[in-house]
Amino acid sequence: MTNILVTGGAGYIGSHACKALKAAGYTPVTYDNLSTGWQDAVKFGPFEQGDLTDRARLDQIFAAYQPVAVMHFAALSQVGESMREPGLYWHNNVAGSLNLLQAAVQAGCKNFVFSSTCATYGDQDNVILDETSAQHPINAYGASKRAIEDMLRDFEVAYDLRHVIFRYFNVAGCDPAGEVGEFHQPETHLIPLMLDAIEGKRDALTIFGTDYDTPDGTCIRDYVHVCDLVDAHILGLKWLEYDKGSRVFNLGTGSGFSVREVIDQSAAITNRPVPVVEGPRRPGDCTKLVSGSTRAEAELGWRPARSSLDQMIADAWRWHQTGHYEK
Ligand code: UFG
Repeated sequence: MTNILVTGGAGYIGSHACKALKAAGYTPVTYDNLSTGWQDAVKFGPFEQGDLTDRARLDQIFAAYQPVAVMHFAALSQVGESMREPGLYWHNNVAGSLNLLQAAVQAGCKNFVFSSTCATYGDQDNVILDETSAQHPINAYGASKRAIEDMLRDFEVAYDLRHVIFRYFNVAGCDPAGEVGEFHQPETHLIPLMLDAIEGKRDALTIFGTDYDTPDGTCIRDYVHVCDLVDAHILGLKWLEYDKGSRVFNLGTGSGFSVREVIDQSAAITNRPVPVVEGPRRPGDCTKLVSGSTRAEAELGWRPARSSLDQMIADAWRWHQTGHYEK
């Protein structure tokens, strides 16, 4: 079996990726410090607990498993937190990734699939975002991911470490079979917070800003189903296996939904009212982030088949009512 080192494999997206990797015939080796992930979510291959900043441990893992590629999901990923504590993001995300890249090079592992973000583009109102759009992040999270992208380009030139960079838009939904799901503590994302409010697990959802320059005043995002997203990663791995060279792909569907539209749709899907209050803007939030690219579809053959707002909310709702992990 072919080993793939999956950093962050105990997290939301990483655990879904492990399921997809196993289904595609690979062995996902999860490397995770469990700071935000869950050991319960590691179901599809070996688990190794460790931190990206621990170089000796990384060297040991590369030697033990000899992975042919790395899928690098492990990161701190909260925009608001990154504005309050940027040092955390530069240390964990940037210094940690540098360690990982150096360990990969030393071990002779030449293929790297990286989770980047549309937050690297920053706030570019009325600009259709494609992979060639300028990257001007407005929060430390986005800046940390852009720095890692730069690092990957330099490592390719110097060491021939090939990469596929995926810039995610807003990832949502869960495995329809319910084997893994989305469970953050604390939760900061719109859809799970809203489902909590619907279930009465929290008082109300606060809408962060109603005075944006959008038709209904709330932020617009491009939501993509996590299962579609991880399918792209398998295609990205094959892209590297076929030696097609380093490439950047946006992963979004091109459809933007406002916070109010997501709320209205959730009320319809769950057939329950969503308790909401209106609050001020959240620092670091962009007005609108929608992918204008079809590169992943044209070049990778990616078909995001599950990313309708209805299916993402329905899958999240099903998991929300039954699934969770224990420490
Ligand atoms: N929102 C609310 N209330 C909440 C939570 C979110 O109104 O309680 C709004 C946000 O202001 C934003 C939208 O819902 O307009 C989506 O917010 P999320 O926190 O769910 O997602 P973000 O867009 O902030 O961030 C996500 C990922 C990041 C990634 C980013 C790129 O978490 O990792 O998408 O847009 F970088």
